[in-house]
Amino acid sequence: MGKNSIPKIVVTPPGPKSVKLMKLAEKCVPKAVYTVTPIFVAESEGAMVKDVDGNEYVDFATGISCLNVGHRNPEVMKAIREQVELYHHLCFHVTPYEPYVRLAEKLATIASGNFEKKVVLVNSGAEAVENAVKIARKYTGKPTIVAFEYAFHGRTRLAMSLTGSVHPYKYGFGPLDPAIHRTPYAYCYRCSFGLERPTCNMKCVEYIRDTFAIHLSPDEVAAIIVEPIQGEGGFIIPPKEFLQGLRKICDENGVLLIADEVQSGIGRTGKMFAVEHYNVVPDMITLAKSLGGGLPLAAAIGRGDIMDSVHIGGLGGTFGGNPVCCVSGLKTVELAQQLLGNTEKLGKLLMSRLQEMYKKYEIIGDVRGIGLMAAVELVKDRKTKEPAKKERNQILTKCHKNGLVIIGAGAHKNVIRFLPPVNISENLLNKGLSIFENATKIISAR
Ligand SMILES: Cc1ncc(COP(=O)(O)O)c(C=O)c1O
Repeated sequence: MGKNSIPKIVVTPPGPKSVKLMKLAEKCVPKAVYTVTPIFVAESEGAMVKDVDGNEYVDFATGISCLNVGHRNPEVMKAIREQVELYHHLCFHVTPYEPYVRLAEKLATIASGNFEKKVVLVNSGAEAVENAVKIARKYTGKPTIVAFEYAFHGRTRLAMSLTGSVHPYKYGFGPLDPAIHRTPYAYCYRCSFGLERPTCNMKCVEYIRDTFAIHLSPDEVAAIIVEPIQGEGGFIIPPKEFLQGLRKICDENGVLLIADEVQSGIGRTGKMFAVEHYNVVPDMITLAKSLGGGLPLAAAIGRGDIMDSVHIGGLGGTFGGNPVCCVSGLKTVELAQQLLGNTEKLGKLLMSRLQEMYKKYEIIGDVRGIGLMAAVELVKDRKTKEPAKKERNQILTKCHKNGLVIIGAGAHKNVIRFLPPVNISENLLNKGLSIFENATKIISAR
């Protein structure tokens, strides 16, 4: 794999070896476990992946934002190697070990909030969300959780109940958790109330206030769970007033604010946590994805008194905070902190190129991003905003065929997201963007 030769397409993807492996997958993996890029990977490094047929790609997906510091980051690999030479699993509940407490201490220190924080480590984003909700319910003694339209919080029972879209996440999987109340998000490009900023007066915030006054007693609400930037929902970036308004409502009503930073955290946006852009301090934060530096690791961070409201044995799990994952996570967090300036700089480059494309291609209805968490929303017509779903998929396929791994998002299936490693070189970022631009140009001209 070479930074200079990449992208390198030696056989049109998917090549014969990938096709053969896909046939095997079709035989032994349920079709529900879907794949968007039909190539099998042989090697990866930094912002590059090579498939089993010898094709080399720039990676703008990073395993859905799990590799903020890049594939096989040498310092992360070194920490992992050193750890497996000592011990690789013990279970914190049986015999504790240092990497767990070192990572917990680090996360408690860097998370927003000038108060004592405690951290429970688990295995996945869904599990972190489940734990945050369990803790919020225990601390407040109240059952209901307010969640948003277009939200994504995972696929386990409680997490999918909190998730907005029925298809494919909840369909046929009921009964769901009964104590979830859904309310509109600040999706300003497609406002649920048909309003526009600033004349909307943040109707989506006021709507929750009305809800608490009329339809749902806050005496029954444990928490509002919110993604500071909605991920799967389409990289929706709310105005500052939205999160600040939620904080205020929570404070006024004895309700906790949980920020789900599974996708937006660990330096992705140019700050360690996306909530920092909003000057909002949540009561709890959930993390996963890039936290483990490519290994399965997740966390629920919260105010000490909230976290300690749970009885002994009420939290945890066999693999939660596995030592290898913890050393990988600790090194990743340290590196992500050092890279914040770079993320901001590259984010500006990314946004300016996407803005240029917006001027050239009518199919791009909206460009949005903070740091290196950016997206374009594709429409058939800028006035009607009819989602360009088919075209979105065609652009993704063209990108894959030309050497760029990139994925979609959005409840309307018309968003393309940009999630390169935050330490990608300008050269590779530009190369990936050129592949995307070329695909957009060809598909939008059809
Ligand atoms: C905001 C958010 N929360 C939770 C999850 C679920 O994480 P996991 O797939 O690790 O369970 C995701 C996954 O995309 C996410 O983006």
